[in-house]
Amino acid sequence: MQKITKICCIGAGYVGGPTMSVIANKCPHIQVTVVDINQDRIDQWNTEDLDQLPIYEPGLKEIVAENRGKNLFFSTEVDRAIDEAQMIFISVNTPTKTYGKGKGQAADLKFVELCARNIAKVSKTDKIVVEKSTLPVRTAQAIQNILDNTGDGVHFEILSNPEFLAEGTAIDDLINADRVLIGGNETPSGQAAKDALSAIYENWLPKERILQTNIWSSELSKLVANAFLAQRVSSINSISALCEKTDANIQEISRAIGFDSRIGPKFLNASVGFGGSCFQKDILNLVYIARSFGLQEVADYWEQVIIMNDYQKSRFAEHIISTLYNTISGKKIILYGWAFKKDTNDTRESAAIHVANALMEEHAEVIVYDPKVTESRIYQDLDYLETRSPEENRRLLTVAKNPMEITTDAHAIAILTEWDEFKDYHWEKIYAQMLKPAFVFDGRRLLETDTMKAIGFNYYKIGQS
Ligand code: UDX
Ligand code: UDX
Ligand code: ADP
Repeated sequence: MQKITKICCIGAGYVGGPTMSVIANKCPHIQVTVVDINQDRIDQWNTEDLDQLPIYEPGLKEIVAENRGKNLFFSTEVDRAIDEAQMIFISVNTPTKTYGKGKGQAADLKFVELCARNIAKVSKTDKIVVEKSTLPVRTAQAIQNILDNTGDGVHFEILSNPEFLAEGTAIDDLINADRVLIGGNETPSGQAAKDALSAIYENWLPKERILQTNIWSSELSKLVANAFLAQRVSSINSISALCEKTDANIQEISRAIGFDSRIGPKFLNASVGFGGSCFQKDILNLVYIARSFGLQEVADYWEQVIIMNDYQKSRFAEHIISTLYNTISGKKIILYGWAFKKDTNDTRESAAIHVANALMEEHAEVIVYDPKVTESRIYQDLDYLETRSPEENRRLLTVAKNPMEITTDAHAIAILTEWDEFKDYHWEKIYAQMLKPAFVFDGRRLLETDTMKAIGFNYYKIGQS
């Protein structure tokens, strides 16, 4: 079996950065080079001040500090890194298409294709190419076709190695992975490549957690795992709406059903809606694939998970509007949290974007505070919706750095991300500063109902009447 000593990863983002940092950390005998065409991003990865790394992940900066410059390198010299490596990970972004065939559903593979063409152009020796981005099934085949037809006698073996890390816990998820999935061709060279990649993970994970499959199974498992997880959130969120109409309490229901070992306790937290770069994109992909094979019922079944999620976001916003007497024009509404979950600065598909947009449609004066998300990111998210002009977005919504002072004369606060620090705020002081009646809309079930009501708040918690 080929022993891997040099790895290159194309794409220094939320997936490539943490994954390669952990591989470098656990495999001192392997030189890992992460490359990206974005010079700013690479500069940020190379920054002296480790608090300025381009992504925030608990535990990441410590690992980067330990390995960077030793066996972990960040560079824009893409061609050189490809040429030197025996194994190349493709970790570039695969957003949902915003144009043409499959618009709004299919994954845009243009970045992946560019990578494949580049690998074909540069490679002079045999390579194992690992698809690490979330990709629709049959992408490995597409990459294989490009490489086989443009390389000059060089043998490329393609593997699918989907990532299962969740943001905010990426380092822990990588170090203590439930499983690693490696899909490859069922040929002798395919088996050898799968074993070479397995050997890397075996440096820190037990062998039985490393699963080898064919490429189809590996690619599809990734979509299905995320679809099942998202489906649990949509399922519990659908019941949260029913709880609000009855005396049932969603937390009691989650607990009661989670005790059934066939169901299990995880991913049963009702919320304002799931976000993140994967859930929606992967389900849309699954829907697209099912439809393209003529499986309409299958497509409709999974699409409902997205429809329920959209409903949860708009339901939350509408509840705020109706509670505030159906008129929020000019009212000061504070949003605590913009990230799609705590402990990340990622905002892709965050429910906060849609809640803010709905409130702005009603001309509310929205003020956002998030401990990790930058002002420019928040405006980019809003501008991307193209609901109104960038100027209007900046007029209707402001971004604050101090979470306490903005509550003066506010009509309402909505909690959209479950950041721990929100629990420790001086809520009595906040109450004193707000206009009365003072409303708190808790989209993350973060605070204690009794405490908030005792302070005097008009307190709404998603999933409770
Ligand atoms: C997910 C998968 O968990 C991971 O395995 C995959 O590789 C990438 O997609 P991520 O999107 O980073 O990871 O976060 P995750 O923890 O899964 O949360 C996704 C969204 O669901 C968040 O908005 C979160 O707040 C929401 N969620 C999660 C709930 O609303 N309730 C829950 O019980 C769990
Ligand atoms: C079910 C619940 O399990 C039980 O807790 C409840 O009190 C009554 O309803 P039951 O209907 O007896 O029990 O059987 P169960 O084992 O849940 O199976 C229900 C159906 O699902 C069966 O037809 C079974 O063959 C099918 N099934 C179950 C599958 O097709 N695949 C599975 O993975 C599990
Ligand atoms: P993910 O969550 O999938 O990691 P990101 O957007 O965080 O997505 O990161 C993907 C990275 O891939 C970006 O930094 C982008 O600049 C980089 N990238 C995209 N195309 C190429 C390419 N052809 N060569 C090198 N890097 C690329």
